Amino acid sequence: MDNTISSTAEYYHERTKYRPDNISGHSLDWSKKPPQFKEYPGAESIRLDDKLPFSSEGPVNLRDFPSANGELSAEALARLLFFTNGVTGIMQQPGEYHYYRAAPSAGALYPTDIYLAIRNTPDIPSGIYNFHVRDHRLQRIAPVGFLPADDELFEVLSKATLGHPAIAKSDAILILSTIFLRSSWRYGQRAYRRCMLDTGHVFGNLAAYAPLEGFAATPIAGFVDKEVNDLLGLDPAKEGACVIAPLLAKDDCDVGDDFGLLRSSPYGGYEEVKEENLLNSLVTRSAIQRSSAALARALPDSSGTGRYGASKLKSYSGVTLDSPPPPLHEELRETILRRRSTRAFSGNPITLEQLGHLLEYAYRYDLAGESYETPRYFDPLLLETWVIVHAVSGLQQGTYYYSPATRELKLVGKGDYRQQTHYLALGQELASDAAFVVIHTCDLPAAVERFGDRAYRMIHLDAGHIGQRLNLAAIALELGASGIGGFFDEEVNSLLFIPEREACVYITCIGDPA
Ligand SMILES: Cc1cc2nc3c(=O)[nH]c(=O)nc-3n(C[C@H](O)[C@H](O)[C@H](O)COP(=O)(O)O)c2cc1C
Repeated sequence: MDNTISSTAEYYHERTKYRPDNISGHSLDWSKKPPQFKEYPGAESIRLDDKLPFSSEGPVNLRDFPSANGELSAEALARLLFFTNGVTGIMQQPGEYHYYRAAPSAGALYPTDIYLAIRNTPDIPSGIYNFHVRDHRLQRIAPVGFLPADDELFEVLSKATLGHPAIAKSDAILILSTIFLRSSWRYGQRAYRRCMLDTGHVFGNLAAYAPLEGFAATPIAGFVDKEVNDLLGLDPAKEGACVIAPLLAKDDCDVGDDFGLLRSSPYGGYEEVKEENLLNSLVTRSAIQRSSAALARALPDSSGTGRYGASKLKSYSGVTLDSPPPPLHEELRETILRRRSTRAFSGNPITLEQLGHLLEYAYRYDLAGESYETPRYFDPLLLETWVIVHAVSGLQQGTYYYSPATRELKLVGKGDYRQQTHYLALGQELASDAAFVVIHTCDLPAAVERFGDRAYRMIHLDAGHIGQRLNLAAIALELGASGIGGFFDEEVNSLLFIPEREACVYITCIGDPA
């Protein structure tokens, strides 16, 4: 093992890299495929399907559908849950129906579940619920040994987040969890990466959609894991809470930016583990423990402008993009309903303006006064953005570094990289036929220094969230998009000429659909 590795996150990343010599198609045991939905037999159930804005008499005008204006109700929650991760497509497969969702998922395995802690809401008794995606209903769960009085639930969540102020102000908190087995069944130990990317995509829908109903969803990744998992009755060997998202009325959602950035317990180093224990070892090491929670505030960012791209590429020539974000807000419902991952691109070019629209929607930091509409990433500075341009009219083919703060694309390597991108994406044509490919990387040792092994979770959640915004903007512009979670990690470093400590986190392909 590389002796520069100094954390479990780096160790896990290294051991789960795809390389030409370790990737081989293995046959799947379909009899072991985990169930797509969680059932709570005997649980009190609240229907939400009859509160959706669809009618058996024909299409309704989704664009003009009235907003909840920040008032909680069963109808508002029915829509929020639907446009976050409801069923938007059904396919019949041998032996079962397959339910496609509002958010994409690697291999359509849907490891993300949503729980809801609620109080003071008409028609929904206070308590904790699991959202049953297929039936679009809430199943009330009764945590073992817990007396579910209104405020007590919220106090548990408040304590677990070390007093995050959004919890106390909120009456409805969504908790996104992941069931690792749903993904590891197919992807083995590398599944942790896809579970977090998937959950980031789901959160991306929630964060983009909530303002349409007059809410803002505040993402919290820092919490004492055991306390939240116990509250939801999750088995830590199989599943875990990843993001806590209190909903607040958008005109009363300002709680400051510094909360929620907690680091995991300071283990330092890593333990060699057997292949089959890699994922669980990362889950354990990236947890925040009550015993060390007092020390959990993350270190300030000492790297300043020293991040790889920002410092090394300062003098490179670039193009400054000035397209506004696409006017997605009014048509977000239709966009989410229409979204499907593109299965093939034509290879035809898109315009520089379209590229600008897409990146602007993914990152726009600059909507002064409308902070609830600016995407709230845990720490976007942990990620570097690279754009591999295959076919964008008005832009040379090549590899570019994108700086969201200045909207500059800096040309790093001139040339046609379609073949190399195709190869590193495990031979998927999506990567060579796309008009451009966005790659997110992270200086992993630096991220771990700030957030402990928890950093690994945060960078994948943020990359999934950015990926979802790219997907939504692409669909709104009549383009196509697809995530790529399987890639030869080190080939990405070779393509971009970046050091090994820069870990490839995620790839998104965008272009003209075939
Ligand atoms: C994290 C992630 C990784 C993905 N990786 C790939 C991939 O490598 N190749 C691919 O063709 N599709 C990939 N997809 C797209 C999924 O296959 C797709 O989301 C899933 O089949 C559900 O279909 P839908 O997105 O059309 O709803 C990925 C999606 C996500 C969210």
